[in-house]
Amino acid sequence: MFLAILQEVKMKKSTPKSILITGGAGFIGSHVVRRFVNSYPYYHTYNLDALTYAGNLENLKDVQEARNYSFVKGDIVDTDFINHLFSQTKFDGVIHLAAESHVDRSISNPLSFVRANVLGTVNLLNASLSAAKDNPSFKFYHISTDEVYGTLGDTGLFTEMTPYSPNSPYSASKASSDHFVRAYGETYDLPFVISNCSNNYGPNHFPEKLIPLFINNIINNRPLPVYGDGNYTRDWLYVKDHAEAIDLIFHKGKNGETYNIGGFNEWKNIDLTKLLCRLMDKKLNRMKGTSEKLITFVKDRPGHDLRYAIDASKINRELGWKPSVTFEEGLERTIDWYLDNQEWLDHVTSGDYTLYYQKQYQP
Ligand code: NAD
Ligand code: DAU
Repeated sequence: MFLAILQEVKMKKSTPKSILITGGAGFIGSHVVRRFVNSYPYYHTYNLDALTYAGNLENLKDVQEARNYSFVKGDIVDTDFINHLFSQTKFDGVIHLAAESHVDRSISNPLSFVRANVLGTVNLLNASLSAAKDNPSFKFYHISTDEVYGTLGDTGLFTEMTPYSPNSPYSASKASSDHFVRAYGETYDLPFVISNCSNNYGPNHFPEKLIPLFINNIINNRPLPVYGDGNYTRDWLYVKDHAEAIDLIFHKGKNGETYNIGGFNEWKNIDLTKLLCRLMDKKLNRMKGTSEKLITFVKDRPGHDLRYAIDASKINRELGWKPSVTFEEGLERTIDWYLDNQEWLDHVTSGDYTLYYQKQYQP
């Protein structure tokens, strides 16, 4: 019995496959690409990314020479380019992460979110139809967000049955792309799976999102702009735990299903900010209380969702996944990574980065 299972695992690992991962130069995508390149030597992993401000090949320095990895620069909205790519390579699966991902940017420029997140997804879906026709084991996997469910009050959790009710242009674009994926499954029998995940954190996170922005600002003695009164809640998950869940869902998730992924780890923004301040004071050998002085309450984000929290019991029950990295351990690793990678921070924050967040929310 044991030998048979071992044989099955060996077979699965050694079945050659071509996997297209979109958005692989971004934050979560880079962790997924690395995991696939290292865990599946018999797969060829293609990373398709337009290298927008959020995409950075430095995130994948350690795998760039691997024989089972290729980078393809391109825009998922470009139909001719996508059709050409799919005609050149017979993909066995698409794991689609490429997107505009920052809520604040979606408030200032909603159309760019419709373009990348909706048009880009539909383009990939169209190209996937012919790939699926020739290959019965083809799968289209859309990486989505818990923000499609809208906001929770003080209690309750998002389940896979929670109705969609997006509140920001970002979440509306992700909800729309989820609907298109499901519609292609119903209308054209495209095999698909979707997962909706809570807030990720960890290395390679672009420093416009709360945790890396505040770490970077503390390092540089800059203000920490807390939106509104800071009593907004998010459920934080270490990015490598998300990459593990994506691997499991891609290989073992049921076609046509949705899986929620979360950290069972709710924090109010203001409490998380104070925790970061305490940890950073210790790391930087600064006097206790130094970083907290940087906290600045600023104008709230319009349409700000009060609380997100995920019920991740389905993926636990059906696929045996649960987060493995505690928040303490994950934050420690994250802070150490940013302190050790100042060059990366300097590189990604050159350009109009500072101006961007400063002009959005003034005290
Ligand atoms: P990110 O902004 O760090 O990376 C996005 C990547 O997509 C970048 O490398 C960018 O260059 C690429 N990209 C953007 N537009 C493109 C286009 N038109 N063509 C090709 N490539 C393009 O984002 P992230 O935080 O890593 O999020 C990845 C995915 O996961 C997104 O779909 C997001 O909605 C989803 N998600 C993110 C979180 C989170 O907490 N960050 C949580 C749940 C779901
Ligand atoms: O829930 C999953 C989503 O999490 C993903 O789909 C998005 O791609 C990702 O960006 C993230 O969205 P949020 O809006 O929750 O993340 P952000 O880091 O921008 O903000 C986290 C919380 O912190 C939110 O309540 C807004 C607040 N905030 C954020 C910034 C950048 C501040 O108070 N000050 C800030 O400067």
